[in-house]
Amino acid sequence: MGYAGSGNAGKTVYEGLLKLEYRGYDSAGIAVLSGGKTELIKSAGRVEKLGVPAQKLGGTVGIGHTRWATHGKPNDVNAHPHRAGSVTVVHNGEIENYAELKAALIAKGEKFLSETDSEVIPRLINNFYEGDLLAAVVKCARMLKGSYALLAIRDGKEEIVAAKFRSPVILGPGDGCNYIASDEPALAGKCRSVCVLEDGDFAKITKDGFEVYDENLNPVRRGLTANEAREQSLVLCGYPHYMIKELWEAPAAVKNTLTAFGEVSGKVRAALDGAKKIIFTGCGTAYHAAMLGKRYFAEIPQISAEAEYAGELRYSPVYPCGKTVLIAVTQSGETADTVEAARLYRDAGATVIAVTNCPHSAISRIAHVVVPVCAGPEICVAATKSYSAQIAALLSMAASLVDGAHIPVDAGFAPELISETLENMDIYALAEMCARSRGVYFMGRGIDYAVALEGSLKLKEVSYIPGGGYPSGELKHGTLALIDGSTLSVFIITDEALAAKSMDAVEQTLSRGGMVAVITTLPQVQAQFSRRAEVIKLPECQKYIAPLSAAAALQLLAYRVAVILGKDPDKPRNLAKSVTVE
Ligand code: G6P
Repeated sequence: MGYAGSGNAGKTVYEGLLKLEYRGYDSAGIAVLSGGKTELIKSAGRVEKLGVPAQKLGGTVGIGHTRWATHGKPNDVNAHPHRAGSVTVVHNGEIENYAELKAALIAKGEKFLSETDSEVIPRLINNFYEGDLLAAVVKCARMLKGSYALLAIRDGKEEIVAAKFRSPVILGPGDGCNYIASDEPALAGKCRSVCVLEDGDFAKITKDGFEVYDENLNPVRRGLTANEAREQSLVLCGYPHYMIKELWEAPAAVKNTLTAFGEVSGKVRAALDGAKKIIFTGCGTAYHAAMLGKRYFAEIPQISAEAEYAGELRYSPVYPCGKTVLIAVTQSGETADTVEAARLYRDAGATVIAVTNCPHSAISRIAHVVVPVCAGPEICVAATKSYSAQIAALLSMAASLVDGAHIPVDAGFAPELISETLENMDIYALAEMCARSRGVYFMGRGIDYAVALEGSLKLKEVSYIPGGGYPSGELKHGTLALIDGSTLSVFIITDEALAAKSMDAVEQTLSRGGMVAVITTLPQVQAQFSRRAEVIKLPECQKYIAPLSAAAALQLLAYRVAVILGKDPDKPRNLAKSVTVE
């Protein structure tokens, strides 16, 4: 986050960092230019720790950073900003050749203070400085391999210089001031429009304006787009946590996504026309949505659908066979593995469709077609409403391709289904069971297996209880060894055609003395287990939209467990929402 104006820079940068904290929260720091000199504060821990000292910093130009550690522990020294001579820098991304740069700088007599890769940046800039900070940053950038969104200031001149490559940077004009940040929410309520930098861009920001340059220092024109982030999305509105607030926002997110799909359905059909192979990809929760996408498209004859983690896909050989379409699912649109997998496939001649919540993101600039996910800003690190809206988008895509015979789906009912699930579900007893368990395993078949994986991820992220998600049929091939009275198995059963098979797996688990819960839309499943297991009955619905109901139940379950155990569901330890490094 950066600010150049005439107000209190320390306070403004601090406020911006609070809104960006979901991107990393193990340490934070701020540097301001005050009377030509740089004042710097930084500390391990949450941004909030900087609140009081940041107010006192003052200054009229400032930069700040909230960190998710890649190189070096989250401690005071490794926190950004990093300083060398008169130059101070904050950096997002990863410098892959830092070891070699560091060795060369040490050989020249530089003394490094931190264990970070980032510290090479201020040291290089300081070495290259010959009276023009922008020129020194450009020279430094030429040396760097990897990804960077970096801001640099230097004693004596009221300006910020930025550089961007493979990590996001936006600029925003304010009222008598200018801002720079890694994401739009930081500028909510401050800038109505933003300028999105492209890879290879440099920028100079002062109180009076900002200019964008290429690496030869030629000015570059970048237009302004509306800043979609609203302050309303960034406050709790009476909820105790963002996770529960955003869970309740899922019906609206799904509704808006279904409506928005109407505007792109023609382009999507054209992009998918004649496709022989469709590969779905993503990371984390988005990958679990991608798996559902694969299940939906697998119902369509003559299309081969696959799903693969983006981090695996980007390092696998690309074999386009006939027309290949890559469907990349990503809330942020900035996840490094997903963006690079999309770039790889586009460069290999495949058609790329991005399903994303962030229309100005990197993936949107790579994809041939963008399918909007209209979930609004999601602050809780654990994805909830964005996952539901991704499912709605993928379902709309599959349904738009066929005549209704293969995917007879009434997606219009989905928002109501989620509301009904959340309103009527009594999940407290199951949450208590989870909280007491040594391990929690989620199981399902077909579509329910994809949902089981997400249920497991959600619980792990916010409660730290070990476990996993498995296909019900695999239980007997290994996981059964883990089952005893201290473990809980949660079965998701919504597909009538596969219910009998999953019910066998429930019986096998009960026979071994394991605790069992069943989450189901089917009355016959409820009847069979209601006296022997904890049964959560979901509203009856078509199997294709059942994941939306089951996901709401599992998200609420994970939230309740986190609260019971006293964990912060919004900021799980060690995680960040948007992982822009490998
Ligand atoms: C991180 C987050 C997850 C998220 C994943 C993919 O790991 O902690 O919640 O699912 O990134 O993020 P994306 O923005 O690509 O959906």
